[in-house]
Amino acid sequence: MRVIIRKNAESACVTAARTIAALVHRKPNAVLGLATGGTPVNCYAELIRLHRQGKLDFSNVTTFNLDEYVGLPREHSQSFYSFMHDKFFNHVNVAPSRVHLPDGMASDLAKACDDYEQQITDAGGIDLQLLGIGSDGHIAFNEPGSSLASRTRVKTLCLETIRDNARFFGSEAAVPRLSVTMGVGSIMDARRCLLLVTGANKAAAVRSAIEGPITSQVTASALQMHRFATVVLDEGAASWLTRKADYQFAESSMPDPDELLG
Ligand code: GLP
Repeated sequence: MRVIIRKNAESACVTAARTIAALVHRKPNAVLGLATGGTPVNCYAELIRLHRQGKLDFSNVTTFNLDEYVGLPREHSQSFYSFMHDKFFNHVNVAPSRVHLPDGMASDLAKACDDYEQQITDAGGIDLQLLGIGSDGHIAFNEPGSSLASRTRVKTLCLETIRDNARFFGSEAAVPRLSVTMGVGSIMDARRCLLLVTGANKAAAVRSAIEGPITSQVTASALQMHRFATVVLDEGAASWLTRKADYQFAESSMPDPDELLG
C-alpha cells in the first residue's frame, strides 16, 4: 500500500482528483469506479474544475458506482443516484449511457446484482476504484463480517453505519436497512484502488485498515492484499498510524501520484 498524507482534507481531495485525472489523460476511455459519501465531494469538485478549464474530457469514460440503498427511488434526495448526479455527473460530460449504479429498486435484486457484475466485466473491468471508509472500517457497504471474496449482492447495514448516515436522513429510523453493494472481491478486481479518507473521526478505522490484521471485521484491510492500492489521508485521518513517519519518509522519495500512473 502506498500511503500519502496531506496537510488537510482539501489537499487530500485534490491529490485523489489529480490521480483520477492523470488516468483519464492516459486512457480517455478509462473505466472508473466511483464512491459516495461526504469525503469525495471535494474530489469531484476538483474534477469538475479541471473539466470546466478544458483540461479533462469524460466523454469516453465509463463509470460504475459502488453501492445504492435498497428501496429508495432514484429521484429520492438521498439516493446515491441523486448524490452522484448532483455532485458530479450533471457538471461534466460523462455520457449518461456510460453511467452505472446498482439498482436498489430492481424487482429481482439477485439478478440485478449478477447483471451489474457482468456489466463491469463487459466494460473490461474497472481501471481505478475510488473508495471511502466507514467508521466501522467498511468499504462500499461491505460491513464487518462480509466475506473478503464477496461479489455484488444485497447487504444489511450495521447499526454504526445506520447511526452515521442518519445525518443525511434526519433520523435513524429513516435510513434504509439494506443496500446493494459491490463485494470486497469485486473491488479487489479493480486494477487500482484509491482509498481517500479525511478527518480524525476515521483515524481508528484507518489504522485498522492499514496496520491491522487482514480481517472481514474491517473490510478495508483487504486492500493490503491489492497490488496497486494507494491511500490518501489528511493529518486527522493519519493521526493514529504508528508508522506515519515511515510513510512520510518513503513518500519524500516517491514520484508524484500522477507519475505513478505513467
Ligand atoms: C457510506 C458509503 C461508503 C463511504 C462511507 C463513508 O457508507 N457506502 O462508500 O465510504 O459512507 O462516507 P463519508 O465519506 O460520508 O464518511
